[in-house]
Amino acid sequence: MCIQSFEKSDRLPFEKVFKDPVHDYIHVHHRLILDLIDTREFQRLRRIKQLGTAQFTFHGAEHSRFSHSLGVYELTRRIVDMFERNYPNDWDSSMRLVTLCAALLHDVGHGPFSHTFEKIFETDHEAITTDIILSENTEVNAVLKRVSLDFPNQVASVITKQHSNPQVIQLISSQIDADRMDYLQRDAFFTGATYGAFDLSRILRVIRPYKDGIAFQYQGLHAVEDYIVSRFQMYMQVYFHPASRGMEVTLDRLLYRAKELFKAGILYPAFPLLDPFFKETATLEDYLKLDDGVLQTAIILWTESEDAYLTELSKMFLNRKPLKSVTFEKGKDEEIVEILRDIVGNLHYDKNLFTLTNSSSDLPYDYKLKSKTPIHLIQSDGTLVEISTVSSIVKSLSGILHGDHRLFVPKEFLERDTANINMFQEEYDAFQHYIINGAITHPENHKNGGKK
Ligand code: NI
Repeated sequence: MCIQSFEKSDRLPFEKVFKDPVHDYIHVHHRLILDLIDTREFQRLRRIKQLGTAQFTFHGAEHSRFSHSLGVYELTRRIVDMFERNYPNDWDSSMRLVTLCAALLHDVGHGPFSHTFEKIFETDHEAITTDIILSENTEVNAVLKRVSLDFPNQVASVITKQHSNPQVIQLISSQIDADRMDYLQRDAFFTGATYGAFDLSRILRVIRPYKDGIAFQYQGLHAVEDYIVSRFQMYMQVYFHPASRGMEVTLDRLLYRAKELFKAGILYPAFPLLDPFFKETATLEDYLKLDDGVLQTAIILWTESEDAYLTELSKMFLNRKPLKSVTFEKGKDEEIVEILRDIVGNLHYDKNLFTLTNSSSDLPYDYKLKSKTPIHLIQSDGTLVEISTVSSIVKSLSGILHGDHRLFVPKEFLERDTANINMFQEEYDAFQHYIINGAITHPENHKNGGKK
């Protein structure tokens, strides 16, 4: 059966909708999409929060990877519907199903607190996404194979950016795609930060297929500009928030400690569903059993572990008492960072467990890097222009990495009140000797106000 006749026979007799706080309704017209949503691998995303540790800074950010995935599907569906209506000569309508499936499944391999978990246990959510799509043993694979035996490969090739149609890849993954447009709006809505708001309906009007890619009508310039600025501000204000990163670092150190203790045979077994990851024998089936609840339950048990450090780090994470931070300049302050870590280590802290450096960096927009597809506008004569050449706002954000480097330490070293109670004044003063206005500063620069 060819894809078009499958698509026809797969249409639901009645449209099915999911109520969504961001996009109002998610519309489903294909049985295939409904059945993918009902798979155990996709339902698991209900149990994984979209923003990980950001929920500890923005308490409203309790939304799940499930709702984001539905949102990306819905935006892609709206765009594809519009392409089919308005640009039938520039868009290949046989790409409809593969594009919708890739949009829905693009994050299906995410696990609990992905970023930190991946670092400690060396997993990779993108590789797991393709595993879930291609593995013989998943429900997702069985549903996709109803289209054709090769269909799972086609969906996976969109995720790995190897699909033969660049328009399909760019809709799911580029500098302005359905994924980013959904998470910016959704994260802004649930955190309550208004920075992420941009004129989505306008962008969905001006986006269009163009030769080998996606472009925007010139009159949409300011809507696209606004999207890039929103994205920049969400990174600065929400995603890179020092308190969320403090929780991430605390989680990182506690999982690191648990792994150390497991290897030494002290924490053995560590926690039933996590043991395969500590043993480094985890299979896809083991991974699919993980969710936020599993990780949090393990941490609750570890608050009563026999190891004082694991107990303390677990309590800090559970009760939101994150490590606190000061900024430093990379390539300049490393020596002082080591001095400060030693000061922490001189008290009852293990410096490898209670201090850690963490860097954040984001490129809001770039047109020079080969890995980044530039955003193009279509001018009235039909020619393309790259957006930063006509927008001074975009130009000012182009090609520049934004973010900072931070050293995380127990808060007693940064806050005098707790220092008086909990620790020696001498260590506190020694630490403070290098800090001015929340940044690591060489003492000889203190007299001119900390300017370097
Ligand atoms: Ni996503």
